Amino acid sequence: MAGVILNKPKCVLLLGASNDQLFIIKTAHELGVETAVLDANPDAPGLKLATYSAPINFSDIPKVIEFVNDLKNKGVNVCGVTTMGSDVPHIIAKIAKAFNWVGPSEETGRIATNKYEMKCRFRDKGIPIPQFSLVNSAQEIKDRWQKWNCKKVIIKPTDRAGSRGVRLIEKQEEVEEAFQYALSNSKIGQVQLEEYLDGLQISTESILTKDKCVTPGFADRVYENMQAFWPQIMENGGWVPTVLNSSARAEVNDLVEKAARAFGIVKGVSKGDVVLHPSRGPMMIEMAARLSGGDFCESLVPLGTGVNYVEAALRIALDEPVDFEKLKPTKNLAVANRYFFPPAGALEGIVGVEEIEKMPEVVKMNFFYKVGDNIPVIQNHGQRAGVIVVVSANREAAQALVDKIYSTIRFKINGKYFSAAPIEYSSK
Ligand SMILES: Nc1ncnc2c1ncn2[C@@H]1O[C@H](COP(=O)(O)OP(=O)(O)OP(=O)(O)O)[C@@H](O)[C@H]1O
Ligand SMILES: [Mg+2]
Repeated sequence: MAGVILNKPKCVLLLGASNDQLFIIKTAHELGVETAVLDANPDAPGLKLATYSAPINFSDIPKVIEFVNDLKNKGVNVCGVTTMGSDVPHIIAKIAKAFNWVGPSEETGRIATNKYEMKCRFRDKGIPIPQFSLVNSAQEIKDRWQKWNCKKVIIKPTDRAGSRGVRLIEKQEEVEEAFQYALSNSKIGQVQLEEYLDGLQISTESILTKDKCVTPGFADRVYENMQAFWPQIMENGGWVPTVLNSSARAEVNDLVEKAARAFGIVKGVSKGDVVLHPSRGPMMIEMAARLSGGDFCESLVPLGTGVNYVEAALRIALDEPVDFEKLKPTKNLAVANRYFFPPAGALEGIVGVEEIEKMPEVVKMNFFYKVGDNIPVIQNHGQRAGVIVVVSANREAAQALVDKIYSTIRFKINGKYFSAAPIEYSSK
């Protein structure tokens, strides 16, 4: 009919094309949304999956803008930007601003990417947080620690992610090395000291619109056998559903909503790291203005509850309404992910894979090193050797599967076979 313009499909710009972003690319396609995907690595797997792609470093904002304008000139209906897993809210903010799209503000991007700015914002807005301070020397750490009168402290760079440079300290004599380690990991030479908060650690993910916030992502973090990584602190997996009862869960939901609003998030997503302190209640360790990478929003939550909130995050980026009904759980299964931590050395083989692969409850098993690679001493998330995800009717059954996997999969390193459970290297 004359005068009718056929609707072009919408296209979303996605930053990053690594394994961490494949789920959001697939989810967009399932929604009938085209994807324009950028990654500096021309071999990144998501580039092949995308509707449009380019091997561009997305930190180069003028180049990104040029890429989007080219697509627009070719008639592609690019109308939003987002990512998952990649901690770049400051870049998303700039791109969204340039095209007048929905996105975090530049202010949110700034405070979300600096752990000191973030804690100051939370303090100013009355969000419960641990004691914290920027520190310039090991002596300053010792002085503060004494004043705070707490058992353990955390020393971390303010500007990194994935546990890079983070150490949990119990003894004064560990301070100097931990300070130097955090400093050497910081790109801006900034180190923060924090009181260590005891209690169950929880990951949350929330979807926010102007007047509503729901938190469909809620997982208990697993920190088994931390002496295996000492003095590094690293989670070795997570659980859905949480062990918390509904009132404790509601308290955490309330906290992460307040924290996200304190962050300045009006419409968008936020990922919270919370500790449920035994006497002080839920407290914020930090918050990210983005979707998680790894398995949280991609596996744990959809497999356990039936909710895929990555879809809602895409709708928000495209300035469409969110269907909150779709964020209500439709099932309640126990899901666990666990990572592999073999000792350092040359990887000569991995045994037990076929036996585990056959198990129907094992929905994911990935290895991040191949035969011939040299596995380093694993000190941050990026160095982990692999992951498994299992689904079962309840936690006990899922735990039994995890135990079976950790005892069956063996990494052959320098001629010997090792379990990759988080156990001390000396006893492996
Ligand atoms: N003040 C604290 N009290 C208790 N635990 C903490 C504290 N600060 C950090 N942690 C623990 O150390 C982990 C890493 O610290 P942090 O989150 O600051 O660094 P990160 O580089 O963002 O790492 P991650 O990707 O693991 O979140 C946290 O996830 C948390 O488990
Ligand atoms: Mg963190």
